[in-house]
Amino acid sequence: TVGLNDAAKAAGKVYFGTATDTNEFGDYGYVTILNDTSIFGQFTPGNSLKWMYAEPEQGVFNFTGGDEVYAMAYETGKIMRGHNLVWYSELPTWVTDATWDATNLTTTIQSHVTGEVSHYTGKLYAWDVVNEPLNDNGTFRSDVFYDTLGSSYISIALNAARAADPNVKLYINEYNLEYSGPKIDAMVQLVKDLQAEGTPIDGIGFESHFILGEINAQEFQWNMQNITALGLEVAITELDDRIELPATAADLYQQQQEYQEIVGVCMAVEGCVGVTVWDYTDYYSWIPSTFAGYGAASPYNECLEKKPAYDGIAAAFTST
Ligand code: G3I
Repeated sequence: TVGLNDAAKAAGKVYFGTATDTNEFGDYGYVTILNDTSIFGQFTPGNSLKWMYAEPEQGVFNFTGGDEVYAMAYETGKIMRGHNLVWYSELPTWVTDATWDATNLTTTIQSHVTGEVSHYTGKLYAWDVVNEPLNDNGTFRSDVFYDTLGSSYISIALNAARAADPNVKLYINEYNLEYSGPKIDAMVQLVKDLQAEGTPIDGIGFESHFILGEINAQEFQWNMQNITALGLEVAITELDDRIELPATAADLYQQQQEYQEIVGVCMAVEGCVGVTVWDYTDYYSWIPSTFAGYGAASPYNECLEKKPAYDGIAAAFTST
């Protein structure tokens, strides 16, 4: 069967990739598939570059995990997306427990973004600079950043990232943008506002955590096109398609069709640069521990065997 990254590139996309992280690198079978660049041409570290790991104490950076993921990518000819710089979750206690004002939080965001981005200047394809800033109803999420600085924290972070690496693609990454409604509308407005004020923004990541039976490829495509119409690129950044367990053969067949449709949307949108699955195997998927009773969301099963979903992705990349 065709390698998914080979197929993606032959179709004119930049990459097909996967989330991964160092806690999985001791698993020989997993790593053997992971290192196959015909299948995966891109890595996203699933955790190591989040604030609590990368700057656990103020001004003290730790790139041990991120550097290991980067080395694995680099040695096997892959590109890496950095994930992520400013997010309400996985913050160290020195951020969550402190009392901030606009001035000292601004410099703290700038130092954090500068520290992470400059460590990798010239090495990464993209950074998820701001992660999940919106509520599903389209308002800004209340967190330490928004509550202290309003939405200006987004441009503060993006400007600092651009200053630290002139060429890396700067993304805002978000979930539930795959459906029509207030959230995608708010993201389109946010991009317009950032552009109007001259803030650098290159791409929007559509996380794409789907539930079997709940995809709407038409809306997904319209939403991507609403972003690319503003001159940005888009990417599927955290793809999975979870199933209520136990997954039947019929479920896995439907999942194959859905993976094909979803990746087909990226194919149909010229500005969609690539697809990343949020780890390639059900064994390391985040789904079962977060959504009780759900799983089987990834293109490889727990035994590291290809599922029908794999063929669905391949079919989307190879259909003309
Ligand atoms: O590594 C420790 C392990 O030593 C310890 O025994 C275990 C006990 O809880 O925890 C392990 O760390 C966990 C880590 O995943 C690695 O498995 C953390 O507790 C857990 O919080 C962490 O969850 C991650 C989650 O983000 C929170 O950061 C998931 O792996 C990761 O897949 C998930 O990814 C997010 C994206 O960043 C943003 N979009 C949504 C997506 C899914 O939630």
